[in-house]
Amino acid sequence: MMMPASELICRRGHDEEAAGYPSYNKPQTKPLLPWLIRYVMGEQRLAFAFLGMAIASLLFLLLLHNSSPSSSTTTTSSSVAHLAAVGLASRHLPAVPVNRLGGPTGRVPLGLKRKGLRVVVTGGAGFVGSHLVDRLLARGDSVIVVDNLFTGRKENLAHHAGHPRLEMIRHDVVQPILLEVDQIYHLACPASPVHYKHNPVKTIKTNVVGTLNMLGLAKRVGARFLLTSTSEVYGDPLQHPQVETYWGNVNPIGVRSCYDEGKRTAETLTMDYHRGANLEVRIARIFNTYGPRMCIDDGRVVSNFVAQALRKEPLTVYGDGKQTRSFQYVSDLVEGLMKLMEGEHVGPFNLGNPGEFTMLELAKVVQDTIDPNARIEFRPNTADDPHKRKPDISRAKELLGWEPKVSLRDGLPLMVQDFRNRIFSDQKTN
Ligand SMILES: NC(=O)c1ccc[n+]([C@@H]2O[C@H](COP(=O)([O-])OP(=O)(O)OC[C@H]3O[C@@H](n4cnc5c(N)ncnc54)[C@H](O)[C@@H]3O)[C@@H](O)[C@H]2O)c1
Repeated sequence: MMMPASELICRRGHDEEAAGYPSYNKPQTKPLLPWLIRYVMGEQRLAFAFLGMAIASLLFLLLLHNSSPSSSTTTTSSSVAHLAAVGLASRHLPAVPVNRLGGPTGRVPLGLKRKGLRVVVTGGAGFVGSHLVDRLLARGDSVIVVDNLFTGRKENLAHHAGHPRLEMIRHDVVQPILLEVDQIYHLACPASPVHYKHNPVKTIKTNVVGTLNMLGLAKRVGARFLLTSTSEVYGDPLQHPQVETYWGNVNPIGVRSCYDEGKRTAETLTMDYHRGANLEVRIARIFNTYGPRMCIDDGRVVSNFVAQALRKEPLTVYGDGKQTRSFQYVSDLVEGLMKLMEGEHVGPFNLGNPGEFTMLELAKVVQDTIDPNARIEFRPNTADDPHKRKPDISRAKELLGWEPKVSLRDGLPLMVQDFRNRIFSDQKTN
């Protein structure tokens, strides 16, 4: 007699158990899909599922609508902070949104420190540049010095050796370079007549091609650009003191024109990038500056007099010594440059100390500071030497809230100490 299959299976399982064999699960013979459909459709489960999805979508939309921009920045900033903590942020996150001031956009959440800026200082191994680097590092910025060491010295930055936020690139600004940065202080250019007249074509190339390259870089990465121009753009001025609106009296074919006209062209290029490419720019017109780390024999009058007095040589005064200059201490200048970079105004701004001295008066201050018996020796004047130079700094006072604080009599001894160390340690090693 034939039996139904199910009965056979059932009976075999029963027989096996009866025979003392353990029972085991048999393979599911019911089809899964129909069972699943029946399960979902039963007891209004589908309706409840749809209701849940609707509530979740509603909550999501409400949250999206209420979230503010600052809360989205918080997410970015905290992930940046995390990456910064593992040392990756600056190298791998150039895409962090930055505003035109170079700072991160949006509000910085409480408890998170402001992330330092990435700043390039061309000519950063020189006299002014190295003091600027000191201040930027002290402020917490990451600094890249770009310098071909023509007049700059590695020793000017030796006290920062191994600093984790300082990089030095030996590079000539006449060649292009690509760096991811927020601000560019463009100082690269020999500043003393001895150096800029040494190779005039190279000087004008540095001022024109070098400035073009740095402006191009600023445009490409959206950095703010500051040009260190000079009071030499006023030439032998017919207006005294010099205000920024004065256009100057420059000999375009003279021996100093590689520098004077070079800087005037650099100003032109800077303004053209500002107007034409909407670049954020700043222009400083620097007047005579002195301080520690100046080149010792660079022919500039303060360094000349100090080195000569220390070496017991006569102080050389060119012409009748009645031409005037103003002398600003380097820390005042650096303060002015940083205020200009951080401020809202393009400039140009005169940055100098309005205290005016004749060369003979300066020689007297040097005698008083170093050696009252130092002799003065008169020599014929050099070509195109301006007769008068004194900045009108009203604009910088009003718009930048800046004015120099260090007088010549306070600043000179600081420079003398540095020159003494360098001159006499050089003599010991020779
Ligand atoms: N010190 C002043 O009294 C004074 C006055 C007016 C303007 N300035 C301007 O300030 C800036 C700094 O002057 P400073 O007194 O420190 O002079 P500095 O000679 O000590 O420094 C200039 C730096 O630029 C570097 N440099 C020159 N040519 C370069 C090039 N082609 N590529 C890369 N680096 C180059 C030099 O090696 C040096 O480190 C200059 O642009 C200068 O024109 C200075």
